[in-house]
Amino acid sequence: MNEAEWLGGSALKILSFSDLHVDYNSTELNRELTQEIADCIKEHAPDRVIVAGDMAGGAERCIRYIEEIQEKSGVPLSYVPGNHSIWATRDNGDSWKQYNLLRDHESSLIDKPLLLNEEWVLVGDMGWYDYTHGLEHKTRAEIVKDKNMMWKDSVMARWGMEDEELTELILEKLRGQFEQFQDRKVMFVNHFIPYASYVPLSKRPEHPMGKVWNLIRPFMGSTKLGELLDQYAHVEYVIFGHKHWRHGMEVHNGKKIICNPLGYVKEWVTDDFATEIRSAATVIEL
Ligand SMILES: [Fe+2]
Ligand SMILES: [Fe+2]
Repeated sequence: MNEAEWLGGSALKILSFSDLHVDYNSTELNRELTQEIADCIKEHAPDRVIVAGDMAGGAERCIRYIEEIQEKSGVPLSYVPGNHSIWATRDNGDSWKQYNLLRDHESSLIDKPLLLNEEWVLVGDMGWYDYTHGLEHKTRAEIVKDKNMMWKDSVMARWGMEDEELTELILEKLRGQFEQFQDRKVMFVNHFIPYASYVPLSKRPEHPMGKVWNLIRPFMGSTKLGELLDQYAHVEYVIFGHKHWRHGMEVHNGKKIICNPLGYVKEWVTDDFATEIRSAATVIEL
């Protein structure tokens, strides 16, 4: 019996990831990466793995990788979809079909908060974006035009509703879950960015990278999610990805914020998968 068990609680170790993009990165590196991801998980020996979206493109591929990683690591995995996860093609239905496939999988947190121990509950959903990271800079009409011109969700994410409506719908579900678990500490996970400080305007707007970043900021998340989270002090951890930039774990508005995505091979500092997956793994000890 360890000290935490002796004191009446049980220590819990969580390993969090996001944006593994296993399909894309396996193609780029010309090998199947799930065993190497499982090896990294086994080194840490966590009680649970969390992946904050963008496991791969489309729900079926996500589910295949989730199951492979669980099987090879022997550790249960909790997943929320990212925007790539709900991409719909002509043959596989709309984005709701993709979302529902992932929601119905045993790994999903959607509509099923997970009690981690006596103290903690894990709450999660996909999240979405509503242009609030950008409306201070551009009109809605300009943002929609940019989206149609260069953001792949404009073709692949088919919801049959506006982005703002989808965001609101998910925020309302989350509000209900935060209310329901007032007596517990909440670890929250979604794919999208809640806080404006993580989506700053580029200081080099004329540089090609700065130009692209300023164009895609409105599709990064929602400040309304941040406002919702800040209403609930019992939400102590906030995990997200989407933006392929590793911040690690930081404290923001009294909460521990984890944004530490793996991202694409071409975005990495090294070309060594073993190094990058370990740098993208975040250990949370409860
Ligand atoms: Fe991603
Ligand atoms: Fe994403």
